Amino acid sequence: MKTTEACRLNKFLASRGVASRRKCDELVKAGRVSINGSTVLLPGTTIIPGKDSVQLDGAPLAEPPVTRYLILHKPAGYIVSAADARGRPTVLELVPAAFGRLFPVGRLDLDTEGLLIITNDGDLAHGLMHPSRGVEKRYEVLVAEVISEGVLEALRRGVDLGEGRKSSPAAASYAGPAGGGHLLRIALREGRKRQVRRMCKAVGLTVRRLVRTGVGPLELGSLKVGSWRELSADEVRSLKNEVAAERTSEAESSR
Ligand code: URA
Repeated sequence: MKTTEACRLNKFLASRGVASRRKCDELVKAGRVSINGSTVLLPGTTIIPGKDSVQLDGAPLAEPPVTRYLILHKPAGYIVSAADARGRPTVLELVPAAFGRLFPVGRLDLDTEGLLIITNDGDLAHGLMHPSRGVEKRYEVLVAEVISEGVLEALRRGVDLGEGRKSSPAAASYAGPAGGGHLLRIALREGRKRQVRRMCKAVGLTVRRLVRTGVGPLELGSLKVGSWRELSADEVRSLKNEVAAERTSEAESSR
């Protein structure tokens, strides 16, 4: 964030690690935030970071946290959540607590494995998850049945997901026999709940294993199950470019 650029108060508070943007809205509305000594009640108020003095409960904000960008090879059986009421293991237990408050970007089902981005960069997470960004997610699906060209065509065109919804056009290819079944590769630019599983069900395929192998410019590669690594500066740059590029093309197409 440049110090001279005006910024909405809720976004600024979230960027300083106070809480999520929504929670920051509540803090402002509750009268707990002041700008240059005066209490403000509107979360959309703009401030100039570095110039305006923002306080929470009468105290200056902590220094901004170091931004962290990790990918984890999520194992099956781990829940994508910060905590689980049923006591199941969470993905955040697999990354160092010393990194501070991090959160997973998007969701993978309990039984899904593969690439999960974990970060404390709320803006990037927001951009990556936003449906309008259409960031590509790639999956390998081990299914029990033989995969015909007709099934691939149906998956590419879009299938009925129930509740009157159809999946958007996707890439789908057959990668050969594997693990006593057949391997399907699917790439989607949307992320509805249990989408790959629902698409497979719609065309009569039984999913035995589902692994996310890529998100936008990132690949799972040889990262071992249950392991994590920090993204390189180049990877973070391409991820940010991807979100920005999607934003630009969206703006162009709406003209
Ligand atoms: N599609 C699914 O069905 N499950 C996931 O976890 C991700 C995509």
